[in-house]
Amino acid sequence: MRKIIIDTDPGQDDAVAILLALASPEEIEVLGITAVAGNVPLPLTQKNARIVCELAGRRDVKVFAGCDAPLERKLVTAEHVHGKTGLDGPSLPDPTMPLAEGHAVDFIIDTLRTEPAGTVTLCPLGPLTNIAAALQKAPEIAGRIQEIVLMGGAYFEVGNITPTAEFNIYVDPEAADIVMKSGVNITIMPLDVTHKALVTKARNDAFRALGTPVGVAVAQMTDFFERFDKEKYGSEGAPLHDPCVTAYLIRPELFKGRFVNVEIETQSELTLGMTVADWWGVSGRKPNATFMGDIDAEGFFALLTERLARL
Ligand code: BDR
Ligand code: CA
Repeated sequence: MRKIIIDTDPGQDDAVAILLALASPEEIEVLGITAVAGNVPLPLTQKNARIVCELAGRRDVKVFAGCDAPLERKLVTAEHVHGKTGLDGPSLPDPTMPLAEGHAVDFIIDTLRTEPAGTVTLCPLGPLTNIAAALQKAPEIAGRIQEIVLMGGAYFEVGNITPTAEFNIYVDPEAADIVMKSGVNITIMPLDVTHKALVTKARNDAFRALGTPVGVAVAQMTDFFERFDKEKYGSEGAPLHDPCVTAYLIRPELFKGRFVNVEIETQSELTLGMTVADWWGVSGRKPNATFMGDIDAEGFFALLTERLARL
């Protein structure tokens, strides 16, 4: 059983990642959800996180608002992928559950200080601003984090927001740099993995066929979300980026990767936010993260469909 904090910028794929975690109480205890600015501005991401909790029937989950802008840069958003609300597709009611009191960064710090050391995993699904801000404010928490399992970056798949950068890392490269240098045990789900987790028509039909509000909403989110990747990359369906993080906590054997050195480009205008992963071990730099490269997509979708059916 993993105790986790989900740090997120929902986003349709973030929503599915949260639903998967909330549907898996035997493997995952969600201590709280922290929202960050990313796909859309913070007022929408924190609201969307609450919409998703209510969709799952989990008004009891604590949702905190965090940083509304990257550490040093202006926010870049992705309405071109996720729509105006960030959660375009289904028409879900506005949330009635309140936002938890306090700042997300303080919740992350307090939780890591209160829970026994080495028992809390952080799951960032958006820009790493909240996580880096927590590490900056209370550096001693690094030694208390069990693992950071994050969605971000790319190696062979290069970029999706610039030719060489993946969105989450590109939006706040300074934050990503702080996280990568933190010494924490890190597992990364890059585009190399998530672009293989495609919601084909048959897979989306299986979500819709659940016939539940959750199954139908996930199918509608995917209907919306897939148009970007279909048009842009000619791919077979929407890549479910962020659910790879929560699936890994349940079934790590679905993923394969390498423990390598990963550094973040923070200077070059041309390659800003690039995750320079030393896949072939040629740099001599010390490995600091497990960079995933492959996924058993059939096993992943079987797990996801089975778990969503529980909600
Ligand atoms: C990442 O960026 C966002 O658009 C998605 O939610 C995912 O976290 C993929 O590059
Ligand atoms: Ca996200």
